[in-house]
Amino acid sequence: MRLTFSLSLFAAAALQPAFGSTNVVSLKPRTRTNSLLISPAALPALPSAQQAASASADVGLNLTDIQGDILIGMKKNKELFFFFTIVNSTLFRSQLGSGILPLITPTSQLLAVDTQPTTAVNVAFSQRGLNALGITDDLGDSSFANGQIDNVATILGDETSNWEPVFAGSGIHGVFLLASDTIDNVNATLSQVQNLLNGSITEVYSLQGQARPGDEQGHEHFGFMDGISNPAITGFSTPLPGQQVLDLGLFLLGESGDPVVSRPAWTKDGSFMAFRQLQQRVPEFNKFLVDNALSNPNLTADQNAELLGARMMGRWKSGAPVDLTPIVDDPVLAADPQRNNDFNYTHSGFDIDTDQTHCPFSAHLRKTNPRAGLTPEDTANHIIRAGIPYGPEVTDAESAANVSSTDPTLERGLAFVTYQSDIANGFAFLQQFWANNANFPGAKATPPGVDPIIGTDGLGQADVSRNPSGLDPNDSTKIITIDQDFVVSRGGEYFFSPSLSAIQNTLALNVA
Ligand code: HEM
Ligand SMILES: *[C@@H]1O[C@H](CO)[C@@H](O)[C@H](O)[C@H]1NC(C)=O
Ligand SMILES: *[C@@H]1O[C@H](CO)[C@@H](O)[C@H](O)[C@H]1NC(C)=O
Ligand SMILES: *[C@@H]1O[C@H](CO)[C@@H](O)[C@H](O)[C@H]1NC(C)=O
Ligand SMILES: *[C@@H]1O[C@H](CO)[C@@H](O)[C@H](O)[C@H]1NC(C)=O
Ligand SMILES: *[C@@H]1O[C@H](CO)[C@@H](O)[C@H](O)[C@H]1NC(C)=O
Ligand SMILES: *[C@@H]1O[C@H](CO)[C@@H](O)[C@H](O)[C@H]1NC(C)=O
Ligand SMILES: *[C@@H]1O[C@H](CO)[C@@H](O)[C@H](O)[C@H]1NC(C)=O
Ligand SMILES: *[C@@H]1O[C@H](CO)[C@@H](O)[C@H](O)[C@H]1NC(C)=O
Repeated sequence: MRLTFSLSLFAAAALQPAFGSTNVVSLKPRTRTNSLLISPAALPALPSAQQAASASADVGLNLTDIQGDILIGMKKNKELFFFFTIVNSTLFRSQLGSGILPLITPTSQLLAVDTQPTTAVNVAFSQRGLNALGITDDLGDSSFANGQIDNVATILGDETSNWEPVFAGSGIHGVFLLASDTIDNVNATLSQVQNLLNGSITEVYSLQGQARPGDEQGHEHFGFMDGISNPAITGFSTPLPGQQVLDLGLFLLGESGDPVVSRPAWTKDGSFMAFRQLQQRVPEFNKFLVDNALSNPNLTADQNAELLGARMMGRWKSGAPVDLTPIVDDPVLAADPQRNNDFNYTHSGFDIDTDQTHCPFSAHLRKTNPRAGLTPEDTANHIIRAGIPYGPEVTDAESAANVSSTDPTLERGLAFVTYQSDIANGFAFLQQFWANNANFPGAKATPPGVDPIIGTDGLGQADVSRNPSGLDPNDSTKIITIDQDFVVSRGGEYFFSPSLSAIQNTLALNVA
């Protein structure tokens, strides 16, 4: 029944002036003089509006139809995740088209400061949310359809007792992503959204993300620059040296390279979003590095602790890859996007299948993207990472005690967000088959062990010993036992982030 309904809406929409002809951009006050995005030197710059317009035109992609969060990566300054239940579907659907759609920020608007809104607004729906809207179509992704809780133990290795109850319940229908440079702006836009929705939704949970302060901007809470190695995407970005260029269809449904050939037409140019609230136990991580510092005689104790952390991550805190600068940090290299991603673990005179003097097989970076370590290089299991840190800085009391506070207002971590066209090939694959798999990459004399940052035993048990090898450059067979989790999953959900035209023509109710 809904199908016929939405088909007739498509037909009706075709007779109306195109949404674009009302020129959404010009309706926004052009008051911005500073970007709502951050741009640390280490991170690849976004394409200019002109570059993106030309790249997208080459492949017939409409960047004004794609929600802005999907392709831009980890560049938000403040971002609120506002999770909601739809309590009046009819009212929600009518307000979605008339009031909310003009606020939804497409990719094209984010690429130049003077087209950015005060607050970027994106919206995504869980399977339960689509059900609530009366959408019965199969989107072709069973992870999405079953919800993240269905992946909890065996695939993700989470301990369910650590989950925020809301993520294990049935109340999350959707999430608004509100991004700006100030929390005041975010709050004001949230009020506007709630007024427009007129009581048709209720809040079930929210998480306030923000870039870390001062020199830590762009760094996650353990201190490492994040968001450097996202893939370049055909039709959007120009590759930097070393950056893999991937098909649009790995990230946008219905585009070239989407592994699922038959999806409902309205899902084209939408993307599946995996959301995870990943708590980080920073004082415990720091203590672990001190207590297990490496023993390079040319380095101080502090430097040997820092070296261990860099080898666990695969990058120095600055962002410089250990594969290019294995013993000491190189902040100049770190800040140069022409060089900071230009490596693939091959070195002349070294065998990539055994060499861990540059980078351990178990390093987070190498686990989640082995680059030339797989032959041929993997092109199927990639994600766009678009998360943001949440929670306050470590307090003096926490660092003095080497323990994270149990005060919930002091919880900190990563509001982890990835976009992909197939969750089981994307986020869930990387977590299950690479990070949590002690034997990946395979055929090694000593198993690499699980990812020392995010790996778990894959059985849904917390604080089981994790046994990465390769971390000591002096003895690659040495296992450094990690008897605790530095990253604790507090749960999450899978969402679908639809195109603007899908919101207009399929999800919204257009009353004549
Ligand atoms: C709190 C948890 C996490 C922290 C602190 C963290 C931190 C980092 C850092 C610092 C980098 C290097 C910066 C960069 O290259 O952009 C990185 C890269 C990456 N992370 Fe994570 N990460 C976390 C969770 C995850 C999870 C859950 C996944 C996927 C299952 C993941 C997948 C990746 C990938 C794919 C890369 C890029 C690898 C490459 O292309 O070379 N991360 N992460
Ligand atoms: C691109 O998408 C926007 C938003 O849905 C729409 O208004 C516009 O007509 C589209 N442009 C083209 C050329 O299809
Ligand atoms: C839902 O909203 C519509 C439109 O405002 C209203 O007529 C209807 O009574 C509401 N339904 C419920 C169950 O509140
Ligand atoms: C924004 O709203 C939240 C939740 O209502 C509130 O706790 C916070 O103080 C507000 N922040 C600002 C800067 O107004
Ligand atoms: C819904 O809209 C009506 C009419 O504009 C208004 O009177 C009412 O206060 C609104 N309700 C909510 C919950 O926003
Ligand atoms: C490697 O181990 C040897 C023998 O234990 C030691 O003398 C040397 O200093 C170590 N080198 C490094 C880089 O740890
Ligand atoms: C320590 O420095 C000396 C002198 O530069 C060098 O020969 C030696 O290889 C270094 N040792 C390590 C483990 O890096
Ligand atoms: C790895 O990088 C080197 C140096 O840029 C390059 O010559 C080589 O072809 C790359 N190997 C693979 C498998 O991509
Ligand atoms: C914190 O850990 C460091 C490194 O192990 C240690 O030197 C220090 O004594 C610890 N402090 C407390 C209060 O346990």
